[in-house]
Amino acid sequence: MDAFVIRGGRPLVGQFRVNGAKNAALPLMAAALLTDQPVTLRDVPDLSDVRNMRTLLAELGCETQDPPTQFTPPPGRPSPPRTLTLRTTVGTPVHARYELVRTMRASVCVLGPLLARRGRARVAMPGGCAIGDRPIDLHLRGLAALGASVELDAGDAVLTAPRGPGGERRLVGARVYLGGRFGSTVLGTANVMAAATLARGRTLIECAACEPEIADLARLLTAMGARIDGAGTPRIVVDGVDRLGGADLTLVPDRIEAGTIMAAAAITGGRVTLTNCPIDALLAFTDILTAAGVTVEEEPGADLMRATCVVSRDTPLRPAHVTTQPHPGFPTDLQAQTMALLALARGNSVITERVFPQRFLHVAELTRMGARLDHEGPSVVVSGVDRLVGAPVMASDLRASAGLVLAGLAAQGETTVRRVYHLDRGYERLDAALASLGADIRRVRDGQPAAPPAVGDFAPVAAGA
Ligand code: EPU
Repeated sequence: MDAFVIRGGRPLVGQFRVNGAKNAALPLMAAALLTDQPVTLRDVPDLSDVRNMRTLLAELGCETQDPPTQFTPPPGRPSPPRTLTLRTTVGTPVHARYELVRTMRASVCVLGPLLARRGRARVAMPGGCAIGDRPIDLHLRGLAALGASVELDAGDAVLTAPRGPGGERRLVGARVYLGGRFGSTVLGTANVMAAATLARGRTLIECAACEPEIADLARLLTAMGARIDGAGTPRIVVDGVDRLGGADLTLVPDRIEAGTIMAAAAITGGRVTLTNCPIDALLAFTDILTAAGVTVEEEPGADLMRATCVVSRDTPLRPAHVTTQPHPGFPTDLQAQTMALLALARGNSVITERVFPQRFLHVAELTRMGARLDHEGPSVVVSGVDRLVGAPVMASDLRASAGLVLAGLAAQGETTVRRVYHLDRGYERLDAALASLGADIRRVRDGQPAAPPAVGDFAPVAAGA
């Protein structure tokens, strides 16, 4: 199993181009099940989650092609922007098996497209993961509102669309409320919106997730011929159409990857220029960075979702209070990285998790590196220390791992982050990216140097995003 060995203390300096968003790629790939025409996605990151989604889609009759120009980069070099073309050629399978769903929880986003186009879907219930319980009751409630019957059978959710006047199985537009205890649901919104595109009549989704990845999915569906208004706001209106066609879309850049690199620049007291940076989707995060004494400068340019910005720090970190919330609030996916940063602030910070209140497995590991963290319920009091010290630590989930890597970049001495397959699920060769910015980081396998994962490698089983 791969690990990262990091020698901390080097300020990161240089330029980083933000990749396409993982959390856009997965539901957009699943949307290819809604048509038999080709769907081309550009700037798809090369991640094990994307490869797992390809496997799942292939089982469901949707093949993915890479264009012939693509190549595997030499070890240590980032890969070129990636284009995938997906085409559904077999329209009958409806089962997303537990073996695949437990590998990648986001597999659940095939539910809406399968049900809408094939009239039936059987998807293994994903169960909990390292960041919490993660039920899918809101997905099921939303699809039931569109007329689907929902049964549980051997750990699978089995959904069937009602029969229309002509005998065909088709969902029916309805008013759907997607609010839950922790706000809306991102993949639940993706499922209901995708399903509603082929339903008979109008669907109104109230308390929809407002994440930029939902707006990106709506852009793709609209390019495929869907009629959608309001995506990116809490109220989405979808007028169902009879069929969808192919489309070609470049993914929105990954705001969480961007935020992680910004935090890396900040924690090391470096200076990094990010290009293709979705700064417009990161306001809650950059607001905290600024409060903590980090400078974030935007270069003037028209598109704030693909901006150039410079992140630097040359003064001591100040404490800040952070509460995670659904977008446009502070993203839970940057909570662990921010905790690592504030661990080195001069004073006390409070971090409260309102999206996944149990998402704190990194706390014990950061404590092993000298962070002073007091965890109580959904909050952690972070009492800033002068320095972190390198230690062997264990990654538990994707973003927790990123937090540990950031702590390692700033710590004195050597940090070994084990189980980095979690990171490979959601960051494209993070080790290579950080090394290109001057970090002393290397990937080892069983103590020996290892190349970054090659295209086509699969990560070991891990449940998460
Ligand atoms: N929830 C319910 N019932 C549901 C669905 C969700 O109670 O039916 C709860 C969840 O337990 C959680 C909250 O609602 O407390 C929000 O969950 P949401 O459904 O929005 O999460 P998700 O759609 O499963 C996506 C991202 C996560 C990200 C969350 C929140 C993808 C593939 N995953 O998950 O990304 O943390 O939204 O922003 O888009 C990551 O990238 O590391 C990651 C975990």
